[in-house]
Amino acid sequence: MTAVISLGGSFLFDKKEETSSLFKELKSINDKFLIVTGGGPIAREYIDFGKNFNLREKDLHGIGIKCTHVNAWIMSKAFKTDYTAVDPRKIRIKNRITLTGGYLPGWTTDTCAAYAAVSTRSKVIFNMSKENGVYDKDPRKFRDVQLLKKVNFERLYSLTKGKRVPGMNFIFDPLAAKICKKNGIKIVVTSDVNDIKKYLKNQEINGTVIE
Ligand code: UTP
Repeated sequence: MTAVISLGGSFLFDKKEETSSLFKELKSINDKFLIVTGGGPIAREYIDFGKNFNLREKDLHGIGIKCTHVNAWIMSKAFKTDYTAVDPRKIRIKNRITLTGGYLPGWTTDTCAAYAAVSTRSKVIFNMSKENGVYDKDPRKFRDVQLLKKVNFERLYSLTKGKRVPGMNFIFDPLAAKICKKNGIKIVVTSDVNDIKKYLKNQEINGTVIE
């Protein structure tokens, strides 16, 4: 079985120890994993840098894509895994763990993860986030927020309205969620690396399941 992981750039940069634990955890599980890394704060900073030189929107997205690949490549070197830059809609994975980044301008790495889940026949995407899961309100704006254990796609869309601009930041990209809904792929949003093994063993997890 293959599972896809959308490794958000915010997780990567905010939670370095947990990132090491994540790879250790994945190596102890007997499934194949395709990991799509996000761009994180570096991508947003670089996109702002590009704006100083009046790059067009497509090229600003291009900066973001390159950042996601630098992150994927660094992780592949650090944890001795495969790395690829092929179209996620055509991706095939050979070895246990493969890393990749973004692909087309205007997408996000969540979109790549969704397409990769379709092409590898994965039933689930683990969205590793710096947030513990999906909340009823934006935790960056409100204090009295509640973590939701289960969310349906309609509720997710209502929580993720926003503009598709370079460097955009969603809990899980609603465009990617549409691909998942259409193909019966579930999404687990979590900051807890142990949730992967737990979910695959049908145990209760700490994060949120979107289905
Ligand atoms: P992401 O939005 O995927 O990275 O890509 P992130 O912000 O680290 O992800 P999360 O939210 O933490 O999970 C960064 C930017 O790169 C461009 C977009 O502009 C995006 O906002 N990008 C990325 C693309 O244009 N196409 C891709 O396939 C991937």
